[in-house]
Parts: sequence; C-alpha cells; structure tokens
Amino acid sequence: MAQIVYLNGKFLDSNKACVSVLDRGFIFGDGVYEVIPAYANHLFRLNEHIQRLYHSLAAIGLDISIPPDKWQAIIEELLARNGVADWSIYLQITRGVARRDHVFPPAPQQPTVFIMCNRLQPQPREMRENGIAAITLADNRWQNCQIKAISLLPNILLKQKAWEQGCQEAILHRGEHITEGAASNVFMVKNQVLYTPPKSNHLLPGITRDLVVYLAEKNQIPVQEQNFSLSDLKHADEIWLTSSTKEIMAVTRLDGQTVGTGKPGALWAKMMRLYQDYKQVLRQGKTET
Ligand code: PDD
Repeated sequence: MAQIVYLNGKFLDSNKACVSVLDRGFIFGDGVYEVIPAYANHLFRLNEHIQRLYHSLAAIGLDISIPPDKWQAIIEELLARNGVADWSIYLQITRGVARRDHVFPPAPQQPTVFIMCNRLQPQPREMRENGIAAITLADNRWQNCQIKAISLLPNILLKQKAWEQGCQEAILHRGEHITEGAASNVFMVKNQVLYTPPKSNHLLPGITRDLVVYLAEKNQIPVQEQNFSLSDLKHADEIWLTSSTKEIMAVTRLDGQTVGTGKPGALWAKMMRLYQDYKQVLRQGKTET
C-alpha cells in the first residue's frame, strides 16, 4: 500500500525512503523512539510524548536541531498526506551515519529522523469482552528502562516467550517487585484501590499510564503509585496493561490462573469509559484538559 513517510526533512513514498547501512540505528540500535496515537488526525497527548522524546534524547547524549515545538507541524503534514484516520505514529531518531565505532561520532552529528504512520486498530471485541492472558517473567533488561530506546531485543524475546505460551503479554518482575509489561505498563486493583509501580529506571514512564492515573484522581478512584509484589499481583482483583496503541487491556488469566472473576472487572469498565470519553473530546478537535 502506498504510504508517505518522513525522512530527514522530506516526505517520501515509503518504497523510496532509504537509510544508509552505516546508520548507527541499524548497526548498534543507537537511537530512541516514540509511538503517538492520533484520532481523526488529532494528536493525542503530543506534548507529553515530545517531552519524553527529549528526555530520551538527553539520556543518550543526542542533540537534534529540531526544537520541540516543530514536531506538531511535521507530524500533522505527514498525516494529511496519508489521509484522515486513526493513526499510530512511529517517530525514530538515531545517531545517524558514521564509520562503525562504539564511541560517539565526532561533532557535528547528523541524526536520522524518521516518522511513519500506521492505521491504529481499535481494541478487538474479543479482547474487550474477555480480556487477555499474560505470563510473569523475570525482568532481565538493562537498568535504563525509562529511556525509550530502539534497541528492544530483550523486550522482543520476553514478548515472544509469552506468545509461544499462548499469552499476549509478559508481565515483568525484578526480584519480588513488578516493573511493567514487555510493551506496556501494569496496574492492579485490590479492594477497590488502583495500584501501579512508581516511576523509576526500571520502567518506561508511559503516557497512557499517566493519563489513567490522572483520570482516576479526577474521578475519585483511589490510586497509589506504589510497588507491589508478584504475590500481590497473583491475588489481585483486576490486572490492567496500558499502552498508546492498546489503551487499557484487562488481564483475565495470569500464569494459567483466573484473575478475579475471569472477565474484565467493573473498575476496568469504568476506566475504559473515562478513557473513551477523553478520546472523544479530542476526536472532535477540542483541546485536551
Ligand atoms: N510501547 N512500557 C514499555 C516497555 C513499552 O514499550 C510501552 C509502549 C509502554 C507504554 O507506554 P505508552 O503508554 O507511552 O505507550 C510501557 C509502544 C506502544 C511500542 O513500543 O510500540
């Protein structure tokens, strides 16, 4: 399918967009990324995504000449060239093309900036009605999980293990503490209280996570950003996973055992409604609160 992508200042047919084999993204996985949803071409939580992008860039010592307020125009132009729809926007910045050397290339660096948009599919009915299955696995990733790095091999291997066991996601733990999913953040409900691990270098500060915490606080749902254990998770009334593309998924089977009633819980249904209402406001082109 014809698709227009953005590469280093140009809008190109995806078949014609090329990156050098010496790009450090290709050679080392040396880069960072964002995944931003858009509803009817309206960008969702853009400022938050851009802020996280600049934190990731700073954390890997990568300077780019594009100021934070320029992204909106670039992304909106890309979406306009691809039509009006719900999109998942993938934005990647690498340290650019250089002779292979582990040390950063000498200044001035010329980062590679790539953006594409793919159709964002609504949560499948089966997932909404019955939830998903997850397994727990030891979190064997590095100590900088707050950086949204493109080098995702550990996440991929963990997620693959889950898939091979018929599960849609792996929920990770470091020792006793739950951290996050292989590609999502984790929430647990116990006695009507919502819990999610506090932000740290062991998890990505998810934009959806923050929105769920915000919506809970605004709607008098008790919420605690607090560590909980693998054993707490196994005794949870509800388990949710959040991400920009999957929104809020209810986990109804964990390590082969039923979670709560075995169906998405009442608090999940309430939060999904709040989330959909929030999206609806944006879809109509109104400003986010
Ligand atoms: N991933 N934790 C990890 C490790 C993730 O990869 C993601 C999302 C999240 C959720 O973050 P957010 O709510 O900002 O999407 C948490 C994206 C969607 C991806 O890699 O495709």
